[in-house]
Amino acid sequence: MATIIDGKKTSTEIKDELREQVAKLNKINSDVTLCVIQVGADPASTIYVNNKKKACEYIGIKSLSYELPEETTQDQLVELINELNVQPKVNGILVQLPLPKHIDEDKIIQTISPDKDVDGFHPQSVGRLSIGQKGFVSCTPAGIVELLKRYNIPIEGKECVIVGRSNIVGKPMAMLMLRENATVTVCHSRTKNLAEITKRADILIVAIGKAKFISKEYVKEGAVVIDVGMHRDENNKLCGDVDFDDLVDKVKAITPVPGGVGPMTIAMLMRNCVESAVIK
Ligand code: GUN
Repeated sequence: MATIIDGKKTSTEIKDELREQVAKLNKINSDVTLCVIQVGADPASTIYVNNKKKACEYIGIKSLSYELPEETTQDQLVELINELNVQPKVNGILVQLPLPKHIDEDKIIQTISPDKDVDGFHPQSVGRLSIGQKGFVSCTPAGIVELLKRYNIPIEGKECVIVGRSNIVGKPMAMLMLRENATVTVCHSRTKNLAEITKRADILIVAIGKAKFISKEYVKEGAVVIDVGMHRDENNKLCGDVDFDDLVDKVKAITPVPGGVGPMTIAMLMRNCVESAVIK
């Protein structure tokens, strides 16, 4: 029977550890502040932002919320970020993506000071990760490595196959698994004979954005499978990129959706905020 990797429980453990750390910081008159900026009112973004604010409250991180109208100009947003960049009290700045079409996301990401880039999206953060320097790591990949470690799943020397090459998950995931001494292969929409490659994986990480795409034909017996996807299936039930029911008897360990990778992303965001306050 496969181990079901419980991201919800693990994220709560991490949040409890952070809560203790923040309480200690508070005792020496230091606090942690995250600014959360949302432009427009995309319903999915509102849910994500609210979950981030709730996590802040649980841990004792102060969250400053900026809910800006859809018509906000790029210059206005840049001006706000520049102000927050120089406020000593602000430890982290998060601009919820996607942004309205008239705003250049790359420009906004590059405006956030790398010292406050708790999402780990700034080119400097990405570059630092690539060359093994200290810096903020993108939260979903960081959460996946944390899950593997807390479940005592060895990474060093293992064949790790990542399906998906996004800037937020696939690419930083590859860098992070390399840093952990895995042998890493990245597959994507133009990969030929995908199943042949994914079947080599000791650790298979799937972030392709297609509901239940990975069936047991793609997976080696006894593999560890990490599912980054989040969709609604034909019965309106949440599901991932992986067909969980098809795989569960074949694999050694697997993350469920919901309750796998998702909660870990927020826990790592919180950890980045606390680290930012400690390093300051
Ligand atoms: N939109 C979807 N996921 C994320 C995330 O991790 N960070 C930000 N800023 N926006 C997102």
